[in-house]
Amino acid sequence: MCTNTVAVKIFPCEDYASWKNESQILADTNLKHESILQFFTAEERYSGLQKEYWLITAYHSEGNLKDFLSKNILSWRDLQNTAGSLVSGVAHLHSDYTTCGTPKIPIAHRDIKSTNILMKNRQECVLCDFGIALRLDPSLSVEDFANSGQVGTARYMAPEVLESRVNLEDLESFKQMDVYSMALVLWEIASRCDAIGEVKSHELPFGSKVREQPCMEVMRDIVLHGRGRPEIPSSWLVHQGMHFLCDTITECWDHDPEARLTAHCVAERNSTMGPETDCLLQSSFSNFS
Ligand SMILES: Nc1ncnc2c1ncn2[C@@H]1O[C@H](COP(=O)(O)OP(=O)(O)OP(=O)(O)O)[C@@H](O)[C@H]1O
Ligand SMILES: [Mg+2]
Repeated sequence: MCTNTVAVKIFPCEDYASWKNESQILADTNLKHESILQFFTAEERYSGLQKEYWLITAYHSEGNLKDFLSKNILSWRDLQNTAGSLVSGVAHLHSDYTTCGTPKIPIAHRDIKSTNILMKNRQECVLCDFGIALRLDPSLSVEDFANSGQVGTARYMAPEVLESRVNLEDLESFKQMDVYSMALVLWEIASRCDAIGEVKSHELPFGSKVREQPCMEVMRDIVLHGRGRPEIPSSWLVHQGMHFLCDTITECWDHDPEARLTAHCVAERNSTMGPETDCLLQSSFSNFS
């Protein structure tokens, strides 16, 4: 359920940079989209002698996707809509254009994971937590991008990030990293859908192999050297729509960043509709039942 109340995210003094970045990114009206957390305002406040920083946004009482998945089993329709909503949000973030067709600066989220996605209702979600998001401004230099660092959450990090071998000359690289992380989240959503037959309790990607907060070294062994990815059991592929989704997921977490689909392409895949439509994944998957 979506309420009219607001959420206040309070950043202590030491997280000023994260507040500044998140509020600047979210305040850009070009970013407005149904799958991006709605921004209201950002304020500097005094709490006693300490300064703190507030970010005021829409509040989503259903909480984050990870908690939602651990408590709920999804129907195929729930999955179609949630996955479609996530993909359309990432595609919009990465796009050079707003939904109205005016030019915008593409943005890389750089920390896509199920706790940075909020549920608007049972079938729609929004991306949140833009603390380390990066504006892919073509006027910035390679050094600017290099200085932005190796960031994100190790569990969801693409192999090239774990290896520190990102092609900083090409801004598409940052989008390719997001697509890898998005694929892990799509797998997480798929794993809780009753279209796959027996549904196990919710597990984060690589949940059976690593501890709660795996370090980069451990993830490097699994993802980079072992080329490991979350398991897609053959029982999932019996359902035609799920088969299609799993093919998409597999292409999105390809070891070679350039071989990955773009978020825009995922949104458009197999669709007969035009690129201006937001819920294309939803419509393409709805060809299956
Ligand atoms: N607008 C909101 N409505 C409802 N819940 C929210 C909202 N924003 C954040 N949350 C909850 O707070 C959690 C943390 O939010 P967020 O990711 O923005 O902050 P964070 O500083 O990254 O915190 P963390 O380090 O825990 O990830 C989310 O996973 C979600 O459960
Ligand atoms: Mg977060």
